[in-house]
Amino acid sequence: MGVMPWSAARAAELIEQHRPQAGACLPILHALQEEFGHVPAEAVPLVAQALNLSRAEVHGVVSFYHDFRKTAPGRHVLKLCRAEACQAMGADALAAQVKARFGVDFHDTSADGKLTLEPVFCLGNCACGPAAMLDERILGRVDLTKVEFHLARHLADERQS
Ligand code: FES
Repeated sequence: MGVMPWSAARAAELIEQHRPQAGACLPILHALQEEFGHVPAEAVPLVAQALNLSRAEVHGVVSFYHDFRKTAPGRHVLKLCRAEACQAMGADALAAQVKARFGVDFHDTSADGKLTLEPVFCLGNCACGPAAMLDERILGRVDLTKVEFHLARHLADERQS
């Protein structure tokens, strides 16, 4: 997934880059998560200081939005759509199968560190439900076999690079 190890200097750059924006807190946190794969605890005081907020306020934002991870993700992230159209196409059953197969719950990473499972609400692929996103790739008409197939490919690509 190409996430970078924590760097206070890089975090400061990202914060500075987004600070002039109105409502800068969310864009900054998104930028930090994109760079580091999660919002590291070390980043919270830096964001608070730059935006003149308390640490608790920044921490509150990170906790409120489920999109933000507080811990580093596994090597691959699978997002399963939980919205209505996908639910009608069996998203609940798929989620149960994926959880059982990989031994993970939502917001959780498998014990081998290979897979993090996250819920998402509509990927814009409603006609091909149940929909999912594995790393950056959108998948449609997903079943457990398809998840296993694509994950194996991502793991193989990772070994080659
Ligand atoms: S409802 Fe699942 S992609 Fe839109």
